Amino acid sequence: MDLTDRPRRLRRDGIRPLVSETRLDARDLVAPIFVDATTDERLPIESMPNQERVPVDGAVDRVEEIRETGVEAVMVFGIPESKDERGTRAWAEDGVVQEAVRRITAETDAYVITDVCLCEFTSHGHCGVLEADAESDPTLTVRNDPTLDLLAKTAVSHAAAGADMVAPSSMTDGMVGAIREGLDEAGHASVPIMSYAAKYESAFYGPFRDAADGAPAFGDRRHYQMDPANGREALREVGLDVEQGADVLMVKPALAYLDVVRAIRDSFDHPVAAYNVSGEYAMVHAAAEKGWLDLEAAAYESLLAMKRAGADLIVTYFAETLADRV
Ligand code: PBG
Repeated sequence: MDLTDRPRRLRRDGIRPLVSETRLDARDLVAPIFVDATTDERLPIESMPNQERVPVDGAVDRVEEIRETGVEAVMVFGIPESKDERGTRAWAEDGVVQEAVRRITAETDAYVITDVCLCEFTSHGHCGVLEADAESDPTLTVRNDPTLDLLAKTAVSHAAAGADMVAPSSMTDGMVGAIREGLDEAGHASVPIMSYAAKYESAFYGPFRDAADGAPAFGDRRHYQMDPANGREALREVGLDVEQGADVLMVKPALAYLDVVRAIRDSFDHPVAAYNVSGEYAMVHAAAEKGWLDLEAAAYESLLAMKRAGADLIVTYFAETLADRV
């Protein structure tokens, strides 16, 4: 056999990095943080090793820890002191996210992104205002249009507190347009929107719902989040968000949806974000704890795959762990 083409020539140390097609960079990573108005001490999150809920007073320290690793961007999630039917603490000027963002932006140079959703703030745990008989009829849950105004108010309150970017995650039809209009009218035309454009109804959010206390009290989110069976529909969802003014397009979860990341990358010019969600994080940790996987190697390979699929930025709980490795 005459072997002239030997790809192995380029796999040796020395040449290997010169020909590598994809690289991870700490500057492409966004670290989520959980700020909890119900505690004055840091509380570990059991299903997400190394992640904690921090009190409002501890938000700045938490962000500084992240920045020390080289990661410059954070995504803020809030656990409010109280919840109600409409989620009113989501847009309160003295709400947990608003207070945390005010301190973080005053005292650090981090780039601050906020999650815009109502599920952590509503007593029923759904991402918007409920239909009157939602509890008895499982085909009814969140009313779309009356939720839009609340999301816009929430986003505006985040921007007013100093958020650099807002990230709506409720899968309400028209949310990006409503938020863009709200921000522009309130004088925040320069605040970009990172839309959770293709967000699937996924089993991989389990640990997050413990972390942020946002599990639906009844039913599920299948009437507003996407069916995992659908890929083409993601392009339609993303197209609608682009028409409404989305600046960055997110796919969530990441690992099981890399085909969707690739399809969006190929069809749109906008930056694409992948959200490496809580369940993806917890799986790797659980296997590593048993000695079945090398934690950092498995996490690194996962994030590299997201990049290879076309993600520009990655929201990940591994941000700090991997920052000095990339
Ligand atoms: C809020 C929101 C969720 C996540 C991010 N924003 C929960 C959900 O939709 O159920 C999940 C993040 C994760 O699992 O890491 N809507």
